[in-house]
Amino acid sequence: MSSGGHQVAVDDLSPLDAAEELRYLAAEILRHDQAYHQNDAPEISDGEYDALRQRNDAIEALFPHLIRPDSPSGRVGSTVASGFGKVVHAKPMLSLGNAFSEHDVSEFLDRIRRFLGLGAGEVVEIAAEPKIDGLSISLRYENGVFVQAATRGDGSTGENVTQNVMTFDDRQVPKMISGDVPEVLEVRGEIFMNKSDFASLNARQEERGRKVFANPRNAAAGSLRQLDTTVTAERTLQLFAYAWGEIEGALPAKHTEVLERFEQWGFVTNPLARVCSSVDEIMSLYQEIGEARAGLDYDIDGIVYKVNRLDWQQRLGFVSRAPRWAIAHKFPAEKAQTVLHEISIQVGRTGSLTPVANLEPVTVGGVVVSRATLHNQDEIQRLDVHEGDTVVIQRAGDVIPQVISVVMDKRPEHSMPFEFPDTCPICGSKAVREDGEVAWRCSGGLVCRAQAVETLKHFVSRDAFDIEGLGGKHIEAFHDEGIVKSLADIFRLANHYDSLVEREGWGQKSADNLMAALAARRSVSLDRFIYALGIRHIGQSTAKLLARHFGSVDVWRSAMEEMSGVIGSEVRQDLVGLDTIGDAVADALSAFFRESHNVEALDDLIAQLDVQDVAPPDTSASPIASKTVVFTGTLEQMSRSEAKARAESLGAKVVGSVSKKTDYVVAGPGAGSKAKKAEELGIELLSEDAWLKLIEGGQARETDR
Ligand code: IVH
Repeated sequence: MSSGGHQVAVDDLSPLDAAEELRYLAAEILRHDQAYHQNDAPEISDGEYDALRQRNDAIEALFPHLIRPDSPSGRVGSTVASGFGKVVHAKPMLSLGNAFSEHDVSEFLDRIRRFLGLGAGEVVEIAAEPKIDGLSISLRYENGVFVQAATRGDGSTGENVTQNVMTFDDRQVPKMISGDVPEVLEVRGEIFMNKSDFASLNARQEERGRKVFANPRNAAAGSLRQLDTTVTAERTLQLFAYAWGEIEGALPAKHTEVLERFEQWGFVTNPLARVCSSVDEIMSLYQEIGEARAGLDYDIDGIVYKVNRLDWQQRLGFVSRAPRWAIAHKFPAEKAQTVLHEISIQVGRTGSLTPVANLEPVTVGGVVVSRATLHNQDEIQRLDVHEGDTVVIQRAGDVIPQVISVVMDKRPEHSMPFEFPDTCPICGSKAVREDGEVAWRCSGGLVCRAQAVETLKHFVSRDAFDIEGLGGKHIEAFHDEGIVKSLADIFRLANHYDSLVEREGWGQKSADNLMAALAARRSVSLDRFIYALGIRHIGQSTAKLLARHFGSVDVWRSAMEEMSGVIGSEVRQDLVGLDTIGDAVADALSAFFRESHNVEALDDLIAQLDVQDVAPPDTSASPIASKTVVFTGTLEQMSRSEAKARAESLGAKVVGSVSKKTDYVVAGPGAGSKAKKAEELGIELLSEDAWLKLIEGGQARETDR
């Protein structure tokens, strides 16, 4: 194996070396994938192959900015290509040449005029549209029926992702198109994830203790290229159609007219597309879209200009793998240089110590930035950043600004590396960094003011107890004065009514409002209650799941106490078997309940409240009451979340993995190992239709009542 020259510890790699090695690994892993899967002729052992992948993953973990678009980690597991069939594109999927300046754009237009031999009076219409930062896809329709979806791959051969694309909403990818449709039609476009969906996906991933994605593009790629198509189905992906491959049938005369047709057939095309007739028009559109860029809900990295007339496109043809009739005019990345005055350490609710760069304020992409995250100690070392350094910062969309490099020439004399504290800057407790974790954490728990205050703020926040009239500043003041030390103390504020009325800025009205808010919130749903405790990894959706699973605060509390004390407890096994709950959640709950002061604070709080039981659905007529169900493969008549909600409303428990306790496995197309396991265990396997028939009886009776 040729990795002999790559013995440098990952920690010791410079960013330049890391980029170089990632490039090498991407090529090398691809080569071995092809040798193994396409030629059935592996050149290295599985162990050596895995070592290459692990090395790639380790470098990416340390240098997330350097993750390549063609990174092997974007492909699933070590069985990458085997999971997806290959599709040879009827017409290759091409790439585009780049323009970076007005000069490049006008040269592009001149080349076209020369090539076509156009006279001075002849106008070249240019169809301009944003260059979407996603993944390109080719969708094949035969007689109006969607039959295949393929990724770009190397341009000639892509991966067959038909089953995954099947899970898309019809408004993104129509499964059937009608009207004047060519016999064969390949619609091409870009699959992407909205920035807002990306943010909520990452929040969910974090909540579940899973890997977060570096950017919407990676998230879209990771979501599309899933062997388990149910994962794709849970992610919201979008498509803009902008090109085509094979077409058997007549085409209109212009690119923009084809796009109109796409729209009629039910595809989405980009609303910012325009036709321009001169360099000036092009440049002002470039300017305009560049300014709108930060406010769009999707990432774009430039504008693509295409000759509008299709007969001219035909004549212009291609140079190597890029058309002569199109070019991508790239946006400069939104970057700026500024001085990093100081690195401060922020302590979060769960005790994590996050280094923050305090910057000389600077405008990046239209926004003034004075702070940027440095993520963790490793990132500070990777960047080799010192206080006083001049740094380059970058702001990508809505993401928190990041420091991407240090301008070494401008480093002040006698500058010293930053020493990451080994104690909490707030409470002085020891900071610990657990094996496999990147973050240092304050071990002070609620003794730490930062953790205590952040926990209290979380407790009263909108999605938790939603106590109006109790803002962050009040919490801090009450905490520091000793009026509110614990969660239960918030409800004991009623005992401080008189002093509240006297408080500066309060008065009777505010105090009365707060009393009313507190009284109203004494009765709380179990899921809000669990979420409000601010336990690590327990976000809203996990809290809901726990509430439904345990049903009442007493059952939950004693199950949690049992789990935290008993190794390998049945409660834990049940819990991690639940859809979307994993070890990280179970560990976090155990850790919380293992601390006696937490349990005491919890009991103190419960005594103040009326935590409502989760009403079990009336399932007396349900054929699936208290049955355990697993969904696998693609469901065709409803989304997986809808199927799950329906099953649960009929009293069934939906879990993620098949075990002896499973009653039914509902398997759609693309079902894999779970269906196999069900067969092995002799568990009843149902098609989606059979499943719907089974539950319909129960639903009909329910609505009759
Ligand atoms: S046209 C023959 N239009 O950019 C040209 N491409 O660098 C076909 N892309 O692989 C591409 N937005 O993934 C075209 N509005 C757009 C695009 C676009 C994004 C991507 C596409 C392509 C890459 C080329």
